[in-house]
Amino acid sequence: MPQARFLGHACVTLTEGDHRLIIDPFLTGNDKATVRPEEIEVDHVLLTHGHGDHVGDAISIAKRCGATIIANYELALRCAKEGVNVHPMHIGGAHDFPFGRVKLTIAHHGGGFGEDASIYTGPPVGFLVTIGGKTVYHPGDTGLFLDMQLIGEMNQIELAFLPIGDNFTMGIDDAVKAVELLRPRRVVPMHYDTFDVIKADPNEFAAKVKDCQAIILNPGDNIDF
Ligand code: NI
Ligand code: MN
Repeated sequence: MPQARFLGHACVTLTEGDHRLIIDPFLTGNDKATVRPEEIEVDHVLLTHGHGDHVGDAISIAKRCGATIIANYELALRCAKEGVNVHPMHIGGAHDFPFGRVKLTIAHHGGGFGEDASIYTGPPVGFLVTIGGKTVYHPGDTGLFLDMQLIGEMNQIELAFLPIGDNFTMGIDDAVKAVELLRPRRVVPMHYDTFDVIKADPNEFAAKVKDCQAIILNPGDNIDF
C-alpha cells in the first residue's frame, strides 16, 4: 500500500515498496519542517516550479542520494547544470518510471530561480503521480482553473494535495471549488501557515469540503492511500 508523508508547505514524500520520491523538498528555511534534508532518502525528486520554497533542498538531496530530478524541461536543465541527474518533461506529457507514472499538468503561477527569481525556469506545473496503482494529484502553486474538471474526469484521483494559503495560490474557497472539479477521494490542504502572509485555517477548509474526505496533516504525518 503506498504511503504519503507531508513534510510541511508543499513538500510530500510518496513511498511504495522500495520506491521513494519527494515533491518540492523545501526543508532548510522552513521553521515548520520536522525533518532535516540529510534524513531524506529518495530515488526521485519532483519539482513543480523554480521558486525557492519548492526547489528548496532538491540539489543537495539529489546529489547525496544519487536521485533523479523530474521537472519541466527548463528547470530540469537548470538543475543539470548543478551536476545532478535529471529527467526533463513538459505539460501534457506522461512517462513511466520504475515507481509508476508521472504526468505534468498546467498550473497558473510564476517560475524563476535564484535570489530575485530572475533565472528562467519555464512554466510551473502540477503532477499526477500514479504509484502502487493509485493516483495522487499535486498541483504545485496554482490558482483555481476550470481544466481541473478535465483532470478530474480523466483521472481517478485517490489523494489530492491542494494549496489553501491564498495570496500566492488558491485560498480556501477556491480550493473547495477545486475539490468539486477534481473529485478526489481524499484531500490534504497544503501551502499555508509557513509564512504570515499565507496563514489559513485548515479546519475551515475541511468543514467546507463536500463529497470528499479532508485530512489535515501536520508536518511529519503519514497517510496510507
Ligand atoms: Ni511559487
Ligand atoms: Mn510556493
